[in-house]
Amino acid sequence: MVVIESSQLPMAQDFSSFLSLEAAARKKSPLKGLLRFMKGDMLSLGGGLPHPSTFPFLSLSAEITAMRPGAVNGDTAPVKAKVARATELVTVPHAPQAGKIESLTTSLQYGMGTGITSLREFCKEHINRVHCPKYQDWDVMLSAGNTDAYAKVVAMLCNRGDKILVEEWTYPTALETIEPLGIGHVAVKMDEEGMSAVALKDLLDNWGSTPEQANEAKPRVVYLIPTGQNPTGATMSVQRRRDIIQVAQEHNLILIEDDPYYYLQFSAGRDQQQSDNGAIDGGTNAIGLMPSLLSLDTDGRVIRLDTFSKTLAPGCRVGYVSMNAHFCAIIQYHNEVTTQQPSGFSQGLLAEMLVSHWGQEGYTRYLTENVRTEYLNRCQHLQTSFRKHVNGNLASFIEPSAGMFIWIKIHLERHHRFGAVSDSVLMLDLFNKCVENNVLMVPGWQFSCKPKPADMDPADLLNVWADDQCTYLRATFAYATFEQMEEAMVRFGHSLDAAFSK
Ligand SMILES: Cc1ncc(COP(=O)(O)O)c(C=O)c1O
Repeated sequence: MVVIESSQLPMAQDFSSFLSLEAAARKKSPLKGLLRFMKGDMLSLGGGLPHPSTFPFLSLSAEITAMRPGAVNGDTAPVKAKVARATELVTVPHAPQAGKIESLTTSLQYGMGTGITSLREFCKEHINRVHCPKYQDWDVMLSAGNTDAYAKVVAMLCNRGDKILVEEWTYPTALETIEPLGIGHVAVKMDEEGMSAVALKDLLDNWGSTPEQANEAKPRVVYLIPTGQNPTGATMSVQRRRDIIQVAQEHNLILIEDDPYYYLQFSAGRDQQQSDNGAIDGGTNAIGLMPSLLSLDTDGRVIRLDTFSKTLAPGCRVGYVSMNAHFCAIIQYHNEVTTQQPSGFSQGLLAEMLVSHWGQEGYTRYLTENVRTEYLNRCQHLQTSFRKHVNGNLASFIEPSAGMFIWIKIHLERHHRFGAVSDSVLMLDLFNKCVENNVLMVPGWQFSCKPKPADMDPADLLNVWADDQCTYLRATFAYATFEQMEEAMVRFGHSLDAAFSK
């Protein structure tokens, strides 16, 4: 294994020309600037920090799943397994204590817009181990989850009137965030591996050739979900990831890699190949997962959004963003005048759990064994139930290799009214039948990039199918019990039969 010293890696390119007017005008808060002097023997009469003796929280404890090094049986048992999980108690004390990584006097206090140091350093070390960035000056910033991070990244890179390139089916919040800001989007074709690099290249090579594009600046920012894509479940192959990076280099693009489902890769570990400093080469990375776009980026053009939402709990409202140090500073300045940092309760508990109890090894095992195994079992169960109870001639899906979703295609061409009425009429009828039979899935049009008709009330779901080209429903295997999943497929099968019957 050849170890590459960080100092041998290139520095990030200068992407300052990508900053929005808002971002270019952002400055570090001078008040926050004082915080960095608060160490050693400094006597501070500055800052408006409340006195910690007034905090009514004297300690904070949680019973957590134990992930002791080398533990077997209950300790590493998947969440669903019958074996009782071994647990341990995490406590964050009020004041700093020997053997404790955090105290409430720090984590509940005002702090830097970067997030608390212990948790941020842990996340940075984790990124280094798993993604091993290929340039020197990258950094990590805590966020209040990917929704928060995405909104701030958009504010950093886009002005009103700009357009972002997105997958043709995408996470609706990504579009709902930008629409009111006057930022548009351009859909890029997808296939079973997610965004097509060929379509992206084609679109940008020929930008300006259509009347709509004639007076439009070429988009410079791409938003994509490379693993277990929401809603399609698609996961990019290693080659696709490399191709997307290549197009990004050719067309000088910034890539926003929104990757909440990264650790939910079901085939992980199969093709493990290790090289260089434990990172990817040709195949999967050091822990058997697909290389992230961040790990393939040598320029500093990928902004990677990670979140604890799908792996620990969404209510933590904590995530972490990895990107070049210049972008990190801009997001820090934005944090300083908005959220400041994620909740101190979350940060304190997470830091104590991850740093003092689980460590890097325990955290990685929790992700790749507990969480992944649970969703793998669930995914397989939903698929088996589908095959058992649903007529495969009328509906089908591509087996997902990651994530929480299956994207069900309805074969309307087999419907006796196909062609006589619009596809939306048939899809709406099927959706209504599902609701009547008490089984709910998300109408595929909700993930469509096409503009919704202005006269349409998107909440009027029993009367609206807003994209005539959309013949999909999205189902998730993340939440229902195994019995409920099977029953849901029975009901879906009946609804489908009823909708297709003469
Ligand atoms: C693609 C994608 N990004 C972001 C989120 C939300 O992440 P967070 O809870 O970290 O804000 C979701 C949740 O469904 C998602 O599917």
